[in-house]
Amino acid sequence: SRTVERDERGVATVGGLSVTELAEEFGTPAYFLDESDFRTRCRAWAEAFGKDADVFYAGKAFLSRAIVRWLKEEGLNLDVCSGGELTTALSAGMPAERIAFHGNNKSENEIRTAVEAGVGRIVLDSFQEIARVAHIAQSLGRRQRVQIRVTVGVEAHTHEFIATAHEDQKFGIALAGGQAAEAVRRALKLDGLELIGIHSHIGSQIFDMAGFEVSARRVVQLLAEVRDEHGVELPEIDLGGGLGIAYTSEDDPREPHEIAKALSEIVTRECEAAGLATPRISVEPGRAIVGPTAFTLYEVGTVKPLEGLRTYVSVDGGMSDNIRTALYDAEYSVSLVSRTSDAAPMLSRVVGKHCESGDIVVRDAFLPSDLAPGDLIAVPATGAYCRSMASNYNHALRPPVVAVRDGEARVIVRRETEEDLLRLDVG
Ligand code: LLP
Repeated sequence: SRTVERDERGVATVGGLSVTELAEEFGTPAYFLDESDFRTRCRAWAEAFGKDADVFYAGKAFLSRAIVRWLKEEGLNLDVCSGGELTTALSAGMPAERIAFHGNNKSENEIRTAVEAGVGRIVLDSFQEIARVAHIAQSLGRRQRVQIRVTVGVEAHTHEFIATAHEDQKFGIALAGGQAAEAVRRALKLDGLELIGIHSHIGSQIFDMAGFEVSARRVVQLLAEVRDEHGVELPEIDLGGGLGIAYTSEDDPREPHEIAKALSEIVTRECEAAGLATPRISVEPGRAIVGPTAFTLYEVGTVKPLEGLRTYVSVDGGMSDNIRTALYDAEYSVSLVSRTSDAAPMLSRVVGKHCESGDIVVRDAFLPSDLAPGDLIAVPATGAYCRSMASNYNHALRPPVVAVRDGEARVIVRRETEEDLLRLDVG
């Protein structure tokens, strides 16, 4: 995580604005997202992969119309995984051909909307879906570009719930047992489909390139089998997302250019060995682009020292704005940002205000022992999978996302209100 910049009073600043002013203007809890950082990261990915590859930002990490416009301006493509994300993308002007549509159980409506809009690719996840998309495309007089998502059988070293390429899970079609080869056979026969390639996503928050290497090798092997059986060289492979970011100082993420170099070397080498032309590569980073660009600002409400254990610091948000600690045992850091303090550090647990003891934002952290109600604390690296996984648990109002750029701050997703909550309650 980046070091906190402070003004002469010791108040942390973001993009030249002090967090105390931001809290006054936008309230807490709130997510503050650095637009320049987001754009810089998009550019770094686009440049690292160059003209012969495509970068699809994974919208599930965080999506809003402003994000879609920035992606469009920075030349990125977009991976959506639901009708809601698709609608957001289209409504903010993302050209449909730059959209990839994912999901293991897309509804007929979602498929029809995607085909009618002309999305660049639909990633097929099951035998039923191969038939379903072909049928819908044909009935609309279209030939839909598709990829087949395969399960390569890699055990990614990450939390069980976010690892996706081992065999015993819901995504994709297994390479093992000739399943994927059979999927290709069927897709090639159907008039409604134009099979452009193979997709593999091995999991999330991964630092080790070894998993991608195995995945790329197995996907290329399938391409060679497809060529041998059908005389067709599929032109594209997608290696998914999953590149890790630094949540704490112990994490050491790779830079986009290192990742691009590693992936293209592996694919080129494997293709040469198999006598295949190198396919066009695409990747789908979500967290690596948006994760580091935002932090959550909370106000401390209570400070409860438990003798011989730790101090519980309650903030005005919690698991409704960051479920990742409770769900994945995710680690975050935290710091006091509304002032500096020379007080001794105390072992603290930052908890939310929900009626649940697992409502933990930061499990173990050192905060100054003079921490008091009214202090502002910030949790960095909350740009990915925090607002997008936020809930209304306990009828919490989901926090706003405020974009900061060139000394100016503007709301891109507003705070929920009690009227928003009651509007849905029509009983
Ligand atoms: N592509 C596909 C097909 C995916 O399923 C995912 C993530 C991505 C790309 C983007 O992965 P990323 O680069 O952001 O790691 N909620 C979890 C992560 C679940 C990710 C699901 N798929 C979390 O908070 O860590």
